[in-house]
Amino acid sequence: MAQRNIVLIGFMGTGKTEVGMRLAERLKYRFVDTDRWIEERMGRTISEIFGTEGEAFFREVESGIVAEAAALTGVVISTGGGVVSRPENLRRLKAAGFLVCLRAEPETILQRISGETHRPLLQVPDPLQEIKRLLIIREEGYSSSDLTIDTTVLAVDRVVEKVLCHYLGSQSCQEAL
Ligand code: S3P
Repeated sequence: MAQRNIVLIGFMGTGKTEVGMRLAERLKYRFVDTDRWIEERMGRTISEIFGTEGEAFFREVESGIVAEAAALTGVVISTGGGVVSRPENLRRLKAAGFLVCLRAEPETILQRISGETHRPLLQVPDPLQEIKRLLIIREEGYSSSDLTIDTTVLAVDRVVEKVLCHYLGSQSCQEAL
């Protein structure tokens, strides 16, 4: 029988890619990162796409890739932080598997992404303010997941264990959480 996918949503800098890769390794599933898929398909980086065609175009491409990813089985899917801004994406991802939202405090997010230049939406004079603003707008989408984990003070390994416990539903794991 085909395994139920794991889908990771959450804001930038919450650990989706790192956690997703480790989960895929543990479960022997294929790892799919929608941002990387977009870059491969377009032959350009996310920053270049934002810079030349703009965010609306990026969201169109993202929705197409989300539809393709959601049709796969036996995969761990890591998504871009803004994927929840379109209800159709969320519907597809929810139907595609076990939906996990990773969270972190705005200050922690800022700390994690500071020094990085590949996230065009945060290349603004006051990124902390922008993080808080986007978190509010996206709250409804993020809160519709099957499981939410705050990664602010958790090491990646602990986050992976928590996801696995809930996903696999093991009794002994539940007790360890
Ligand atoms: C975005 C998050 C990014 C990427 C793009 C837009 C967002 O992905 O999709 O820069 O709108 O939050 P990560 O969450 O993987 O950084």
